[in-house]
Amino acid sequence: MSDSAAPRPYRSYVYAYPHKTAYRPLPDPAPSLAALWRDEPKDALSLYAHIPFCEVRCGFCNLFTRIGAPDELTTRYLDALDRQAAAVREALGDRDPVRFATAAFGGGTPTFLTAGELERLCDIAEKRMGVDLRAVPLSVETSPATATADRLALLAERGATRLSIGVQSFVEAEARAAVRPQRRADVESALGRIRDTGVPVLNIDLIYGIDGQTEESWRSSLDAALAWRPEELYLYPLYVRPLTGLGRISPAADREWDEQRLRLYRYGRDHLRAQGYAQVSMRMFRRTDAAPLGPDDYACQTDGMIGLGCGARSYTSALHYSFDYAVDMREIRTIIDAYTETADFSRAEVGRWVDAGEARRRHLLQSLLQAEGMPVAGYEERFGASPFADFPAELARFEALGWLDEEAPAGLLRLSPEGLAHSDGLGPELFSPSVRAAMAAYEPK
Ligand SMILES: C[S@@+](CC[C@H](N)C(=O)[O-])C[C@H]1O[C@@H](n2cnc3c(N)ncnc32)[C@H](O)[C@@H]1O
Ligand code: SF4
Repeated sequence: MSDSAAPRPYRSYVYAYPHKTAYRPLPDPAPSLAALWRDEPKDALSLYAHIPFCEVRCGFCNLFTRIGAPDELTTRYLDALDRQAAAVREALGDRDPVRFATAAFGGGTPTFLTAGELERLCDIAEKRMGVDLRAVPLSVETSPATATADRLALLAERGATRLSIGVQSFVEAEARAAVRPQRRADVESALGRIRDTGVPVLNIDLIYGIDGQTEESWRSSLDAALAWRPEELYLYPLYVRPLTGLGRISPAADREWDEQRLRLYRYGRDHLRAQGYAQVSMRMFRRTDAAPLGPDDYACQTDGMIGLGCGARSYTSALHYSFDYAVDMREIRTIIDAYTETADFSRAEVGRWVDAGEARRRHLLQSLLQAEGMPVAGYEERFGASPFADFPAELARFEALGWLDEEAPAGLLRLSPEGLAHSDGLGPELFSPSVRAAMAAYEPK
């Protein structure tokens, strides 16, 4: 590819930088959490708990999750989560005030856990970590089959403010093609149960680019979702990754499929905007008349993330860390088993150091990929340099490709509609050479 050619539109979803495939085992002696967190700000932390269980393995999914939990594995998993929470809380220390500003339970499918187990999870967050779940935004992911009334009621009672459900498609043939078999009637009743809880934010995930999907069928899924007036909608382009169910049967991405996804993206974006939704990022749309988010709900480029569970990441300003990562089912099972047997959670085992240059890339990436753009002054204030001086070649290239909004107000670096449409091609262009090399050397397992 020559330097001036536009990169393919669907290279990777950049929701975190550096990507987990750039993490590596940290050399012995692994850094202690107490040392890592000693000088970090701790007054607006985020908590993320990862529950790596699902009832099925969807054909497109490469998330860190396994099917089912035999032999009371969920109990052992929550036992380990409790031990990890205690170790992390101790590492945060008492010298500085510790306050959590947001919490989220993700997966996998957190509602794979029973209502009693979810109660225990909330207790761990509150009693071990000190999160005031009823006072902060609490987001929980769920799926149609596991969104039962008792689980949802428990989550609502404990303070959930956002329930996010993966629907993917309301068209049964498309759900089957994505290897996510589900009945439309079950999806609709799950949405009804979610609305019955009164939790203020309903988020629905949909996928476009599924085999056989047309503009008409995409529109019917969008309209079925809109009938619930969700406060948020995420429109995900389908990715087919190695080692997933679809990855074993589908051909590699081609231009035609890229065009199909771009077409469906534009269609979905325009349709949602016409229905009173504002675009927040390439994937995310918010109902404009939904109650405004609190100041703590969005802070995309900040550090201070505490991840609990074996697939969760944690971020300090200097180190991003986690546990081992895999996509293959057998490998995932091994990693979960090892996690449940871990006694000592006082050290970071696998991760990547984020130096000053990487922090600048991360800030630029994560703010530029938001539809509202990046205030240049905010970047300059944080780093004492201009983004144009730090990334002259990249920004000139984006400009040449028509990806920067020439009509943005002075002092705002903002993507054009085409730039936003190409977020998944543009994002990887900002990866540093060393992160690229680490990602390329990563062998999927
Ligand atoms: C953790 S899952 C959602 C919760 C729940 N497990 C479920 O599936 O209903 C997050 C979302 O990422 C999206 N997703 C995951 N893998 C994807 C892929 N390969 N291509 C497109 N979207 C994907 C799906 O829309 C999915 O709902
Ligand atoms: S899409 Fe959701 S339910 Fe399906 S395997 Fe992935 S995490 Fe589990």
